[in-house]
Amino acid sequence: MSRYRLAALLLVLGVILAAGLVYVFRNEIFPEHSAAHRGAQVARSAGCFSCHGAGGGNGSVNPSQGKTPDDFSRVPSLLSERHSPQQLRQWIEDGISQEKRQSQAHMQAREREAMQMPAYGERLSSDEIQDLMAYIALLQHREAAKSRPAQSPGEELARHYSCFTCHGELGQGGVENPGSLKGYVPGFFGSDFLALTQNGNRQQVLEWIRDGAPESFLNQGFAGFYPARYLTERQAIQMPAYGDHLSDEELETLTDYVLELQALGPLSAQQVYDYSTQKPVQADRDQQESPPSVTASDSPPPDSSAQDFALFYQVKPLLKRCLQCHGPSDQKSDYRMETRQAAIKGGEIAEFTEVPAITPGNSQLSLMIRFVMAEEEDPYNEIYPMPPEGERLTAQQIELLRRWIDQGLKWPPGEDLLPPLEE
Ligand code: HEC
Ligand code: HEC
Ligand code: HEC
Repeated sequence: MSRYRLAALLLVLGVILAAGLVYVFRNEIFPEHSAAHRGAQVARSAGCFSCHGAGGGNGSVNPSQGKTPDDFSRVPSLLSERHSPQQLRQWIEDGISQEKRQSQAHMQAREREAMQMPAYGERLSSDEIQDLMAYIALLQHREAAKSRPAQSPGEELARHYSCFTCHGELGQGGVENPGSLKGYVPGFFGSDFLALTQNGNRQQVLEWIRDGAPESFLNQGFAGFYPARYLTERQAIQMPAYGDHLSDEELETLTDYVLELQALGPLSAQQVYDYSTQKPVQADRDQQESPPSVTASDSPPPDSSAQDFALFYQVKPLLKRCLQCHGPSDQKSDYRMETRQAAIKGGEIAEFTEVPAITPGNSQLSLMIRFVMAEEEDPYNEIYPMPPEGERLTAQQIELLRRWIDQGLKWPPGEDLLPPLEE
């Protein structure tokens, strides 16, 4: 009898131990990570951010022989250019793309710089590089999405309500969540999603968005024990309930959008790149044929037709030189101007003086015009000649800029001031 008891006790202990091990190593046993999630970890451990800055968008100063400290360049942002997967692979494996390697001027400038992009081909496995590429492609997609109107009402809502900050860009997951069963906020894909939504049940998805964790989900259990409720309520980050903030129609739109993303599954670098580049290209083409249909806050008034953008294209090359200090790689005065919204908003001075950098329709009020015209610095009135060094804009160029602003700063949706990809 006592022998049976001992056996039973050992069995119970064994089960508890096994359950404990499963619990502790749950991520390893049931990992459900997108390539991009794993890629983020590779980026951290490979040291990419030590040179390219936190999040890849804030490169370190890179002193260069023969340059004064004022015009030292920076390690380029990983976000400013959209690289094809082939290019990304070359950069990571060889430390340089084939195209850049062929440019003698680039190679000479590169040699004079203190920091060089390391070749990781020998240090990272092919799988790790694949994952890293997916992560960077997703970062570049997120960055590009900031400067174009949303591609659908669902995307607009998801970005407006920051769904992706918790669920990962495009619902690719990967945000830590202490105390949760698996340690992260689930993405909109795979078996995590199916387990939480009764296999992708549309009503259940809608309830998650409307109520936070749905009651029917929390109440699964037996004999007064509700593991779902226990696990959900103990995690640090909870799904917010958006029911009070969204109309029924918006709830439906978001639900459809989440299901649309869910259908994509976990994305590879190539898939992110295709998703990211094809859709906007398509949308741009539509917009050139007919007036833009998107009325995001940073897009021009809906009556503007394609010809109205002529001034934009005349001004764009003039402002290119400003981007070295007010673009993705450097933000003097915390001002960047490659997108319409950011160009208008301004930086520290605009914030301090409570005048936006550009007032569309009124060039006289616009800091930008005052700055490009200023003869000399007037710190008392917060006036600084721009650009602070090098060639100034000519009177005709300033006139163009003025007209562009006075006509309401018409800016083609989805375009930015960055020069085209010209590796
Ligand atoms: C020691 C500093 C350093 C580290 C670490 C580093 N990089 Fe770089 N990276 C650079 C420099 C400098 C350049 C510019 C090289 C050039 O233009 O020839 C660059 C360029 C790049 C580019 C091309 C950017 C462009 O559009 O011009 C990519 C992509 C890139 N790095 C990715 C990575 C990734 C991914 C990692 C981590 C695995 C990484 N880098 C780690 C310094 C670094
Ligand atoms: C503050 C972080 C946060 C934000 C913001 C957020 N969620 Fe969630 N969401 C969560 C967490 C955490 C869960 C999982 C809860 C659990 O496992 O019990 C979740 C679960 C979900 C689920 C269930 C299925 C799954 O795999 O995720 C859906 C659908 C969902 N959220 C949609 C959205 C939408 C749409 C938005 C934007 C309107 C959004 N969430 C914003 C944290 C967030
Ligand atoms: C070499 C770097 C550099 C270049 C190039 C440059 N700027 Fe600036 N910009 C600055 C600095 C630095 C400030 C902050 C004021 C100061 O300290 O001079 C500034 C501030 C500004 C501001 C105020 C932003 C705010 O609200 O804080 C505007 C507007 C501006 N610049 C416009 C331009 C325009 C337009 C061009 C191109 C014609 C240009 N800048 C080119 C360095 C630059």
